[in-house]
Amino acid sequence: MANKKILVSGIQASGKPHIGNYFGAMKQFVDLQDEHEARIFVANLHALTTVQNPEDLKQNSKDVVLDFLGIGLDPNKTTLFLQSDIPHVAELSWIFSCVTTMPYLMRAHAFKDSEAKNKEINVGVFNYPLLMSADILIHDADLVPVGKDQKQHVEIARDTAEKFNNAFGETFKLPGGLIMENMATVPGTDGQKMSKSYKNTIPLFATDEEIEKAVMSIVTDSSGGRPENVYAIHSLLKDKASLDALYEEKAGKYKDLKEALITDLKTFIGPMRERRAEWESKPEEVERIISEGGKKIRGVVHKKMIEVREKVGLIHHE
Ligand code: TYM
Repeated sequence: MANKKILVSGIQASGKPHIGNYFGAMKQFVDLQDEHEARIFVANLHALTTVQNPEDLKQNSKDVVLDFLGIGLDPNKTTLFLQSDIPHVAELSWIFSCVTTMPYLMRAHAFKDSEAKNKEINVGVFNYPLLMSADILIHDADLVPVGKDQKQHVEIARDTAEKFNNAFGETFKLPGGLIMENMATVPGTDGQKMSKSYKNTIPLFATDEEIEKAVMSIVTDSSGGRPENVYAIHSLLKDKASLDALYEEKAGKYKDLKEALITDLKTFIGPMRERRAEWESKPEEVERIISEGGKKIRGVVHKKMIEVREKVGLIHHE
């Protein structure tokens, strides 16, 4: 345990996860949990930037914990916790906001996108990357599996570690090897990035009917030799050789290809959906897992925060 690399990542509690979240990030959590010390959390503080209904936020947070268990994260290997159970993270994020300039954060894509869409952005949206930096740096994380859309945020974490270390001395591990090479963008049913806000998702725990509906809605472009949007999603589930053979055999038969994708999605989602349902029937156990996870992480990060407080000159009392 002691010399395993530390893996940290989170998922926002802002609605149902989709297969883009899974193939972009969550699958890596499962694949890497044996070889790493994995710490995976529900980003409920981040979700507060958009979810402002307490019942929804609570329900979403519980759902994400079930999603983690459903995909096969093993609570005996991976520490699962809620971001809000680690108040040190919010404190660290404040400290980071004092070593970061406004013009620097204004370059963040997420901020620029929200600014382009909304007239009034809350300060939480603006500070979002610093809260994420705190999530990562407080652990001295070695690896942060995320999808491509979060790459800039991980780079901001690296810059923030550098700024802090320059100002106050070596404190945070520079998450240099943090950016995974195979970062991906999973396309949605319309070929754009799969995203809840584009309404082009295939939910990760979709029912069979939802799978059928989503696949049938995939936009097919008949100009090329094959339906690219169907193929792109299908390639997440099948190796290239058998996929190419199938698309060759069924060339031009878009309906057959969609049906094949439906079958493969059902085979892939079905067992995860069942495992999730099993956990759902044991709420006390899930509650125990998440509460113990938070307790464990509070213990781990406490020492780090004392060091940070000391470095910046905040007098510490136990
Ligand atoms: P979130 O909740 O928006 O997304 C969760 C993960 O899914 C990835 N993802 C995708 N990957 C590939 N293709 C797609 N179409 C796609 N859509 C989403 C995201 O890149 C992400 O990895 N800010 C983070 C949560 C967070 C976090 C952290 C992550 C908060 N603190 C610290 C890592 C470390 C977020 O909003 O992810």
